[in-house]
Amino acid sequence: MIILETERLRIRNWLETDRPLFAEINADPKVMEFFPRQRSREESDALMDEAQRRIRETGLGFFALALKDTDEPIGFLGLARTDLEPFLPDGTVEIGWRLAVRFWRRGFVTEAAEAMLRHGFEAHALPEIVSFAVENNQRSTAVMKRLGMRHDPSRDFEHPRVPDTAPHLKHHVVYAIGREEWLRR
Ligand SMILES: CC(C)(COP(=O)(O)OP(=O)(O)OC[C@H]1O[C@@H](n2cnc3c(N)ncnc32)[C@H](O)[C@@H]1OP(=O)(O)O)[C@@H](O)C(=O)NCCC(=O)NCCS
Repeated sequence: MIILETERLRIRNWLETDRPLFAEINADPKVMEFFPRQRSREESDALMDEAQRRIRETGLGFFALALKDTDEPIGFLGLARTDLEPFLPDGTVEIGWRLAVRFWRRGFVTEAAEAMLRHGFEAHALPEIVSFAVENNQRSTAVMKRLGMRHDPSRDFEHPRVPDTAPHLKHHVVYAIGREEWLRR
């Protein structure tokens, strides 16, 4: 099922044929630089199943991102309910993304995320959308800034699921945009 389309991209449900691309990005050290570890093919498959289950159950989740012309998958993008109490209250919705390196620096994530923010505020009537990343993940915070999201230092947190063996990946910065702010843009 197609959720959204933009000029160059399609956001859609996962297909069985997306599994190799999803596994490739989750195993790529460059893509996973700001995560505690890379994922095996089996773990990646389980993560895709989990993403699809959440989409089925809640209508929110990380969808496949594909090129519109060919339907080739290039990564994922979506809105998801956070599971980070007490740092982010239940009910908070984040926007997140991950792309195979060969598709970086072409504006694809910003293009898809603009459409996903609209979808979140209009179709899901969300009051606010947040995004968070390791402080040094400047490629990701640059996307947040391009989307008009603003850093809210009062909500920055030490990620509870990052192991103590990776202290440099614990501190996360939180960016946010409210519906009113988005409408004004
Ligand atoms: C974070 C990530 C998704 C950002 O990807 P990206 O390609 O840099 O982001 P965008 O799609 O917004 O592209 C912007 C870049 O494309 C360039 N660009 C080229 N053509 C463009 C176009 N038509 N429109 C807009 N930008 C364009 C921009 O100039 C910018 O380049 P710059 O970084 O040299 O300034 C990617 O780096 C990634 O997957 N990282 C690993 C996973 C990760 O960390 N995820 C986030 C965890 S919080």
